[in-house]
Amino acid sequence: MSQVQPGVLEPIPPLARYLAYSLGEAGEARSCLRALREIADGRQIVVGIGESLTRALDAQVPGLRTPPGIAGRGFEVPSTPFALWCWLRGTDRGELLHRSRRIGAVLSPAFRLEHSLDAFMHEGGRDLTGYEDGTENPKGEDAVAAAVVRGQGEGLDGSSFVAVQQWLHEFERFEAMPGADRDNAIGRRRSDNEELADAPASAHVKRTAQESFTPEAFVLRRSMPWTEGRNAGLLFVAFGRSFDAFEAQLNRMVGAEDGIADALFTFTRPVSSAYFWCPPLRENRVYLRALGV
Ligand code: HEM
Repeated sequence: MSQVQPGVLEPIPPLARYLAYSLGEAGEARSCLRALREIADGRQIVVGIGESLTRALDAQVPGLRTPPGIAGRGFEVPSTPFALWCWLRGTDRGELLHRSRRIGAVLSPAFRLEHSLDAFMHEGGRDLTGYEDGTENPKGEDAVAAAVVRGQGEGLDGSSFVAVQQWLHEFERFEAMPGADRDNAIGRRRSDNEELADAPASAHVKRTAQESFTPEAFVLRRSMPWTEGRNAGLLFVAFGRSFDAFEAQLNRMVGAEDGIADALFTFTRPVSSAYFWCPPLRENRVYLRALGV
Protein backbone atom coordinates (compact mmCIF):
# COMPACT_ATOMS: atom_id res chain seq x y z
CA MET A 1 0.00 0.00 0.00
CA SER A 2 1.26 3.45 -0.85
CA GLN A 3 0.88 6.29 1.59
CA VAL A 4 1.49 10.01 1.61
CA GLN A 5 4.99 11.37 2.29
CA PRO A 6 4.73 11.89 6.06
CA GLY A 7 6.30 15.37 5.95
CA VAL A 8 3.16 16.58 4.17
CA LEU A 9 0.89 15.87 7.15
CA GLU A 10 3.30 16.50 10.02
CA PRO A 11 3.50 19.90 11.71
CA ILE A 12 6.18 22.23 10.33
CA PRO A 13 9.69 21.50 11.65
CA PRO A 14 11.90 24.00 13.52
CA LEU A 15 14.12 24.44 10.43
CA ALA A 16 13.85 23.72 6.74
CA ARG A 17 15.58 24.20 3.43
CA TYR A 18 13.89 24.37 0.04
CA LEU A 19 15.86 23.28 -3.02
CA ALA A 20 14.60 23.87 -6.58
CA TYR A 21 16.26 22.27 -9.61
CA SER A 22 16.10 22.62 -13.37
CA LEU A 23 16.86 19.75 -15.70
CA GLY A 24 20.46 19.47 -16.91
CA GLU A 25 21.52 16.29 -18.69
CA ALA A 26 18.07 14.83 -19.24
CA GLY A 27 19.43 11.43 -20.32
CA GLU A 28 20.64 10.88 -16.76
CA ALA A 29 17.34 11.86 -15.12
CA ARG A 30 16.12 8.33 -14.48
CA SER A 31 19.31 7.12 -12.83
CA CYS A 32 19.57 10.28 -10.70
CA LEU A 33 15.94 9.91 -9.61
CA ARG A 34 16.61 6.28 -8.68
CA ALA A 35 19.51 7.47 -6.53
CA LEU A 36 17.34 10.19 -4.97
CA ARG A 37 14.72 7.56 -4.16
CA GLU A 38 17.27 5.73 -2.01
CA ILE A 39 17.67 8.73 0.30
CA ALA A 40 14.27 10.43 0.10
CA ASP A 41 12.12 9.13 2.95
CA GLY A 42 9.28 11.64 2.54
CA ARG A 43 9.76 12.87 6.10
CA GLN A 44 13.19 14.46 6.26
CA ILE A 45 13.16 14.96 2.49
CA VAL A 46 9.81 15.66 0.82
CA VAL A 47 10.10 15.42 -2.98
CA GLY A 48 8.06 17.25 -5.63
CA ILE A 49 8.15 16.73 -9.40
CA GLY A 50 7.53 19.57 -11.87
CA GLU A 51 5.61 19.28 -15.12
CA SER A 52 8.71 19.76 -17.29
CA LEU A 53 10.34 16.70 -15.70
CA THR A 54 7.31 14.48 -16.36
CA ARG A 55 7.45 15.59 -20.01
CA ALA A 56 11.17 14.82 -20.23
CA LEU A 57 10.41 11.32 -18.91
CA ASP A 58 7.49 10.84 -21.34
CA ALA A 59 5.26 10.39 -18.31
CA GLN A 60 1.93 11.94 -17.41
CA VAL A 61 0.57 12.84 -14.01
CA PRO A 62 -3.09 13.81 -14.41
CA GLY A 63 -3.68 17.19 -12.80
CA LEU A 64 -0.05 18.33 -12.73
CA ARG A 65 0.32 21.66 -14.47
CA THR A 66 2.37 24.86 -14.40
CA PRO A 67 0.96 27.93 -12.63
CA PRO A 68 -0.20 30.75 -14.87
CA GLY A 69 1.48 34.12 -14.30
CA ILE A 70 -1.08 36.64 -13.10
CA ALA A 71 -1.13 40.42 -13.48
CA GLY A 72 -3.18 42.02 -10.70
CA ARG A 73 -4.00 45.68 -10.16
CA GLY A 74 -0.53 46.97 -9.44
CA PHE A 75 1.06 43.65 -8.53
CA GLU A 76 2.20 40.45 -10.19
CA VAL A 77 2.06 36.79 -9.31
CA PRO A 78 4.94 35.42 -11.40
CA SER A 79 5.14 31.86 -12.66
CA THR A 80 8.58 30.38 -11.96
CA PRO A 81 8.36 26.63 -12.58
CA PHE A 82 11.13 24.11 -11.82
CA ALA A 83 11.73 20.48 -12.71
CA LEU A 84 12.26 19.19 -9.18
CA TRP A 85 11.71 20.40 -5.62
CA CYS A 86 13.03 19.06 -2.32
CA TRP A 87 11.79 20.23 1.06
CA LEU A 88 14.37 19.34 3.71
CA ARG A 89 12.88 19.28 7.20
CA GLY A 90 15.13 19.28 10.25
CA THR A 91 16.43 20.83 13.43
CA ASP A 92 20.07 21.70 12.71
CA ARG A 93 21.36 24.07 10.03
CA GLY A 94 24.65 22.26 9.60
CA GLU A 95 22.91 18.94 9.15
CA LEU A 96 20.56 20.52 6.56
CA LEU A 97 23.59 21.83 4.69
CA HIS A 98 25.21 18.40 4.56
CA ARG A 99 21.93 16.77 3.60
CA SER A 100 21.56 19.22 0.69
CA ARG A 101 25.10 18.41 -0.41
CA ARG A 102 24.24 14.70 -0.43
CA ILE A 103 21.14 15.39 -2.49
CA GLY A 104 23.18 17.57 -4.87
CA ALA A 105 25.67 14.74 -5.32
CA VAL A 106 23.03 12.14 -6.25
CA LEU A 107 21.17 14.53 -8.56
CA SER A 108 24.20 15.54 -10.60
CA PRO A 109 24.47 15.75 -13.63
CA ALA A 110 20.75 15.43 -14.44
CA PHE A 111 19.65 18.35 -12.27
CA ARG A 112 21.02 21.84 -11.68
CA LEU A 113 20.35 23.58 -8.40
CA GLU A 114 18.63 26.87 -9.27
CA HIS A 115 17.41 28.06 -5.91
CA SER A 116 18.01 27.28 -2.24
CA LEU A 117 16.15 28.95 0.62
CA ASP A 118 16.42 28.42 4.37
CA ALA A 119 13.31 28.73 6.51
CA PHE A 120 12.40 28.40 10.17
CA MET A 121 9.54 28.23 12.61
CA HIS A 122 8.83 31.57 14.30
CA GLU A 123 7.14 31.85 17.71
CA GLY A 124 5.46 28.47 17.48
CA GLY A 125 4.01 29.01 13.99
CA ARG A 126 3.60 32.71 13.32
CA ASP A 127 4.30 34.66 10.18
CA LEU A 128 7.01 37.32 10.62
CA THR A 129 4.23 39.94 10.82
CA GLY A 130 3.33 38.27 14.13
CA TYR A 131 0.06 36.64 13.02
CA GLU A 132 -0.58 32.98 13.75
CA ASP A 133 -0.50 30.99 10.53
CA GLY A 134 -2.29 27.69 10.00
CA THR A 135 -5.22 28.10 12.41
CA GLU A 136 -7.88 27.06 9.91
CA ASN A 137 -5.92 24.16 8.48
CA PRO A 138 -7.98 20.96 8.24
CA LYS A 139 -6.92 18.34 10.80
CA GLY A 140 -6.77 14.53 11.01
CA GLU A 141 -8.90 12.81 8.37
CA ASP A 142 -9.96 16.19 6.97
CA ALA A 143 -6.31 17.04 6.32
CA VAL A 144 -5.85 13.75 4.48
CA ALA A 145 -9.02 14.34 2.45
CA ALA A 146 -7.83 17.84 1.47
CA ALA A 147 -4.23 16.99 0.66
CA VAL A 148 -3.99 13.38 -0.52
CA VAL A 149 -4.97 11.82 -3.86
CA ARG A 150 -7.25 8.78 -3.58
CA GLY A 151 -9.07 6.52 -6.01
CA GLN A 152 -6.71 7.27 -8.91
CA GLY A 153 -4.91 3.94 -8.88
CA GLU A 154 -1.52 2.50 -8.16
CA GLY A 155 1.34 5.00 -8.31
CA LEU A 156 -0.95 8.01 -7.89
CA ASP A 157 -2.88 7.19 -4.69
CA GLY A 158 -1.05 8.67 -1.72
CA SER A 159 0.42 11.48 -3.76
CA SER A 160 -0.24 15.18 -3.26
CA PHE A 161 0.01 18.39 -5.28
CA VAL A 162 1.88 21.33 -3.81
CA ALA A 163 1.81 25.05 -4.65
CA VAL A 164 4.96 26.88 -3.51
CA GLN A 165 5.28 30.67 -3.46
CA GLN A 166 8.03 32.80 -1.98
CA TRP A 167 6.53 36.00 -0.55
CA LEU A 168 8.75 39.01 0.18
CA HIS A 169 7.49 41.21 3.01
CA GLU A 170 7.88 45.00 3.09
CA PHE A 171 8.04 45.49 6.83
CA GLU A 172 8.27 49.30 6.60
CA ARG A 173 4.90 49.39 4.86
CA PHE A 174 3.39 46.94 7.28
CA GLU A 175 4.71 48.79 10.32
CA ALA A 176 3.43 52.12 8.96
CA MET A 177 -0.13 50.74 9.16
CA PRO A 178 -2.07 51.37 12.41
CA GLY A 179 -2.67 48.18 14.43
CA ALA A 180 -6.38 48.11 13.54
CA ASP A 181 -5.56 48.28 9.82
CA ARG A 182 -3.12 45.41 10.19
CA ASP A 183 -5.77 43.28 11.89
CA ASN A 184 -8.24 44.23 9.15
CA ALA A 185 -5.75 43.26 6.47
CA ILE A 186 -5.54 39.75 7.89
CA GLY A 187 -9.10 39.57 9.28
CA ARG A 188 -7.89 38.34 12.65
CA ARG A 189 -6.63 40.07 15.79
CA ARG A 190 -2.91 39.68 16.27
CA SER A 191 -3.26 39.81 20.08
CA ASP A 192 -5.57 36.78 20.50
CA ASN A 193 -6.02 35.40 16.95
CA GLU A 194 -9.81 36.03 17.10
CA GLU A 195 -11.47 36.32 13.72
CA LEU A 196 -12.96 39.80 13.12
CA ALA A 197 -16.66 39.55 12.30
CA ASP A 198 -16.67 42.99 10.66
CA ALA A 199 -13.45 42.63 8.65
CA PRO A 200 -13.53 44.29 5.21
CA ALA A 201 -13.98 42.22 2.04
CA SER A 202 -10.27 42.70 1.30
CA ALA A 203 -9.24 40.92 4.54
CA HIS A 204 -7.06 37.90 3.77
CA VAL A 205 -9.21 35.39 5.65
CA LYS A 206 -12.36 36.77 3.97
CA ARG A 207 -10.74 36.26 0.56
CA THR A 208 -9.63 32.74 1.34
CA ALA A 209 -12.40 31.44 3.67
CA GLN A 210 -12.30 27.82 2.59
CA GLU A 211 -15.96 27.05 3.28
CA SER A 212 -17.13 30.02 1.22
CA PHE A 213 -16.19 28.44 -2.13
CA THR A 214 -18.35 26.16 -4.27
CA PRO A 215 -17.15 23.46 -3.97
CA GLU A 216 -15.44 24.12 -0.64
CA ALA A 217 -11.74 24.81 -1.20
CA PHE A 218 -9.65 23.19 1.54
CA VAL A 219 -5.86 23.00 1.39
CA LEU A 220 -3.22 21.98 3.89
CA ARG A 221 -0.86 24.92 4.47
CA ARG A 222 2.67 24.24 5.67
CA SER A 223 4.24 27.67 5.17
CA MET A 224 7.39 28.83 6.97
CA PRO A 225 9.11 32.20 7.44
CA TRP A 226 12.43 32.76 5.66
CA THR A 227 15.24 35.31 5.82
CA GLU A 228 18.15 35.90 3.49
CA GLY A 229 20.46 38.85 4.07
CA ARG A 230 18.19 41.85 4.58
CA ASN A 231 15.16 40.22 2.97
CA ALA A 232 12.51 38.15 4.67
CA GLY A 233 8.98 36.86 4.21
CA LEU A 234 6.90 33.71 4.03
CA LEU A 235 7.58 30.60 1.98
CA PHE A 236 3.94 29.74 1.32
CA VAL A 237 3.31 26.02 0.81
CA ALA A 238 -0.13 24.50 0.24
CA PHE A 239 -0.76 20.79 -0.35
CA GLY A 240 -3.92 19.65 -2.10
CA ARG A 241 -5.44 16.61 -3.77
CA SER A 242 -5.40 18.88 -6.83
CA PHE A 243 -4.50 22.52 -7.54
CA ASP A 244 -8.14 23.53 -7.83
CA ALA A 245 -8.71 24.72 -4.25
CA PHE A 246 -5.46 26.72 -4.22
CA GLU A 247 -6.28 28.35 -7.56
CA ALA A 248 -9.80 29.24 -6.40
CA GLN A 249 -8.33 30.99 -3.34
CA LEU A 250 -5.62 32.76 -5.33
CA ASN A 251 -8.16 33.99 -7.90
CA ARG A 252 -10.10 35.70 -5.14
CA MET A 253 -6.92 37.07 -3.59
CA VAL A 254 -5.92 38.79 -6.85
CA GLY A 255 -9.44 40.17 -7.32
CA ALA A 256 -10.31 38.12 -10.40
CA GLU A 257 -13.90 37.60 -9.20
CA ASP A 258 -14.95 40.99 -7.85
CA GLY A 259 -12.06 43.41 -8.47
CA ILE A 260 -11.15 43.43 -4.74
CA ALA A 261 -7.52 42.47 -4.12
CA ASP A 262 -6.35 40.81 -0.92
CA ALA A 263 -5.02 43.42 1.54
CA LEU A 264 -1.89 41.26 1.90
CA PHE A 265 -0.67 42.76 -1.36
CA THR A 266 -0.27 46.14 0.34
CA PHE A 267 2.73 44.89 2.32
CA THR A 268 3.95 41.65 0.74
CA ARG A 269 4.24 40.14 -2.73
CA PRO A 270 5.00 36.78 -4.31
CA VAL A 271 8.37 36.65 -6.06
CA SER A 272 7.96 33.03 -7.21
CA SER A 273 5.24 30.45 -7.86
CA ALA A 274 5.71 26.82 -8.78
CA TYR A 275 3.61 23.66 -8.79
CA PHE A 276 4.87 20.15 -8.04
CA TRP A 277 3.46 16.66 -7.74
CA CYS A 278 4.64 14.91 -4.57
CA PRO A 279 4.79 11.17 -5.31
CA PRO A 280 3.47 8.66 -2.77
CA LEU A 281 5.64 6.70 -0.36
CA ARG A 282 6.18 2.94 -0.43
CA GLU A 283 8.49 0.99 1.86
CA ASN A 284 9.67 4.30 3.31
CA ARG A 285 10.92 5.62 -0.02
CA VAL A 286 9.27 7.89 -2.57
CA TYR A 287 7.48 5.75 -5.14
CA LEU A 288 8.11 6.89 -8.71
CA ARG A 289 6.26 4.26 -10.68
CA ALA A 290 3.96 6.90 -12.25
CA LEU A 291 7.10 8.33 -13.86
CA GLY A 292 8.31 4.94 -15.05
CA VAL A 293 11.25 5.11 -12.60
C1 HEM B 1 2.61 36.28 2.67
C2 HEM B 1 1.63 35.49 2.36
C3 HEM B 1 0.60 35.02 3.35
C4 HEM B 1 0.48 35.27 4.68
C5 HEM B 1 1.38 36.13 5.56
C6 HEM B 1 -0.69 34.56 5.14
C7 HEM B 1 -1.15 34.57 6.44
C8 HEM B 1 -2.33 34.00 6.87
C9 HEM B 1 -2.88 34.12 8.19
C10 HEM B 1 -2.24 34.91 9.32
C11 HEM B 1 -4.04 33.44 8.22
C12 HEM B 1 -5.02 33.31 9.41
C13 HEM B 1 -4.81 32.09 10.26
C14 HEM B 1 -5.00 30.78 9.55
O1 HEM B 1 -6.11 30.27 9.40
O2 HEM B 1 -3.98 30.26 9.13
C15 HEM B 1 -4.23 32.86 6.91
C16 HEM B 1 -5.29 32.08 6.55
C17 HEM B 1 -5.42 31.49 5.31
N1 HEM B 1 -4.61 31.69 4.21
FE1 HEM B 1 -2.97 32.83 4.13
N2 HEM B 1 -1.25 33.90 4.07
C18 HEM B 1 -0.50 34.16 2.97
C19 HEM B 1 -0.72 33.71 1.68
C20 HEM B 1 -1.74 32.86 1.33
C21 HEM B 1 -1.97 32.36 -0.01
C22 HEM B 1 -1.12 32.66 -1.23
C23 HEM B 1 -3.07 31.56 0.07
C24 HEM B 1 -3.74 30.75 -1.02
C25 HEM B 1 -3.79 31.10 -2.28
C26 HEM B 1 -3.53 31.56 1.45
C27 HEM B 1 -4.57 30.81 1.93
C28 HEM B 1 -5.06 30.89 3.21
C29 HEM B 1 -6.22 30.13 3.67
C30 HEM B 1 -6.99 29.09 2.90
C31 HEM B 1 -6.44 30.52 4.99
C32 HEM B 1 -7.55 30.03 5.92
C33 HEM B 1 -8.85 30.74 5.55
C34 HEM B 1 -10.03 30.19 6.32
O3 HEM B 1 -10.61 29.18 5.90
O4 HEM B 1 -10.35 30.80 7.36
N3 HEM B 1 -2.70 32.36 2.17
N4 HEM B 1 -3.18 33.23 6.09
